[in-house]
Amino acid sequence: MPTALELGAEVFSADRIAARVEELGAEINAHYLTGDLIVLGLLKGSFIFLGDLVRNIPRPLQVDFLVASSYGSGRSTSGDVRLLYDPETGLRGKHILLVEDIVDSGNTLNRLVRLLRGREPRSLEICALLHKRIARSLELEPRFVGFNAPPLFLVGYGLDHAEDYRHLPFIASLEAPKE
Ligand code: PRP
Repeated sequence: MPTALELGAEVFSADRIAARVEELGAEINAHYLTGDLIVLGLLKGSFIFLGDLVRNIPRPLQVDFLVASSYGSGRSTSGDVRLLYDPETGLRGKHILLVEDIVDSGNTLNRLVRLLRGREPRSLEICALLHKRIARSLELEPRFVGFNAPPLFLVGYGLDHAEDYRHLPFIASLEAPKE
């Protein structure tokens, strides 16, 4: 059965991801000494990362999610992000940690940061598992980053290609099939 793209080399193994997520959890735990912490996962890509991350943060916290509209209106940083699911948890006066699987162009984060700042949290920080370091300007640089990501199309551990591959326990590149 021909497919347009095939799974390529493993880029981050499950063991390497687990070790780094444990470190990130410790960093986050040490950062938030007081106050209410809401860990906000951006769906769908963050669902596995968020599940592993919060189990490595021993302090009290609450988990909620955001579902933002996709690039339907083009790839411009329009600022008019639409939430398909808005957190039920009140955000005002609380520490918000927005969890992303990957920062690519940074457009998604830029729009969400503007929106979340409008909710008047006590603080707003970003935790991204992967950062491609190609975003031209970020409203808020992620304070917690798992790995710098190579300029490849990556799948697995939440990241998809046309909704496939999210369930892989490792992260791999996707490549055109060899002739
Ligand atoms: C992907 C990824 C990030 C975003 C990064 O989400 O999960 O949220 O793109 O790209 P950017 O930095 O260029 O904005 P996508 O819209 O594919 O939705 P998904 O999380 O459901 O996969």
